[in-house]
Amino acid sequence: MRAVAVNEFGGDPKVVDVSKPTPARGELLVEVAAAAVNPFDWKVADGMLAESMKHSFPLVLGVDFAGTVVDAGSDAVRFSVGDKVFGSALRAPVGAVGAYAEFLTVPSTGLIASAADLDPAQAATLPTAAGTALGLLEAGGVRAGQTLLLVGAAGGVGTFLTQLAAARDVRVLAVTRGVGASKMGALGAAQTYDATGGIVADKVRSDYPDGVDALVDLVSDATDFAAYARLIRDGGVALTTQFVADAGELAERGIEAINHDQKSTAELYDRLADELRGHRITVPIEARLPLSDAPTAIARSRLGGARGKTVIIP
Ligand SMILES: NC(=O)c1ccc[n+]([C@@H]2O[C@H](COP(=O)([O-])OP(=O)(O)OC[C@H]3O[C@@H](n4cnc5c(N)ncnc54)[C@H](OP(=O)(O)O)[C@@H]3O)[C@@H](O)[C@H]2O)c1
Repeated sequence: MRAVAVNEFGGDPKVVDVSKPTPARGELLVEVAAAAVNPFDWKVADGMLAESMKHSFPLVLGVDFAGTVVDAGSDAVRFSVGDKVFGSALRAPVGAVGAYAEFLTVPSTGLIASAADLDPAQAATLPTAAGTALGLLEAGGVRAGQTLLLVGAAGGVGTFLTQLAAARDVRVLAVTRGVGASKMGALGAAQTYDATGGIVADKVRSDYPDGVDALVDLVSDATDFAAYARLIRDGGVALTTQFVADAGELAERGIEAINHDQKSTAELYDRLADELRGHRITVPIEARLPLSDAPTAIARSRLGGARGKTVIIP
């Protein structure tokens, strides 16, 4: 079958032929209908998990998928042949299966949920991007009526987080580079700041002199994160997905600092699918590309400039 893989850490992703996986005991074989592109994909290709997980080469890339169960090993539970599912293909050894492939196997008790009644392209975007968005919101305990400064709001996690927060009556202050108030406002942002010329801390401070309640920063390095964190009122919360929060310094001001490492569950995926079915979130799909274009999509993600989600259709 066709898949997109690297032969070594740091190698160029290429379309390759690999053996179609067979489901072992307790596993499902899924024919992939869609896979979503995340920055995590190229980080894994670069060896981000080399120290923490075993890998297998060629390393088939891609984590988030949706598709149809076409075979099941003995003792598989929860799903059967013909069921539509979505989930995460990440498990050890990393790369033995991946979402950028025509088929993958997944433990039936693992990170999968029903995609019944969902467009597979939309369902495929949920696990990492929407899962992290909901995870951040809940980890930060951000509540109705509070202000949330969201840096990197126009990409995968940010577009979901904007919607999920706005639906909970949180006032979202979206920081983007070049994505204006009309686009972010349509997702629920109350205000949009353009950081094309550099960080916008001064503008936010003049609008919110008493400080914001929460910061979720998806993109900044330690210096910019610290500058944005100075906008949080005492006793607020600061979250980063880049692991750059200095908890000690922020604790002096009573601010909870969270270096967020998303740990998803099948139950979380079920909740996200319900949000989608109930039309409480929409998926801003930027591009739908064939598997042959996955290497280009991965390279583009590395360069930045994401606007919502890119989906690969094998
Ligand atoms: N720790 C975790 O558990 C976890 C989980 C999920 C994701 N992540 C990480 O979180 C980051 C965001 O993920 P994602 O899926 O949302 O990525 P994405 O889809 O690539 O989106 C990132 C967005 O941020 C924008 N951006 C970049 N620099 C900016 C800046 N200085 N100011 C304002 N906007 C900026 C990008 O557009 P421009 O380049 O045009 O500005 C893009 O719209 C990635 O590094 C990802 O690996 C971590």
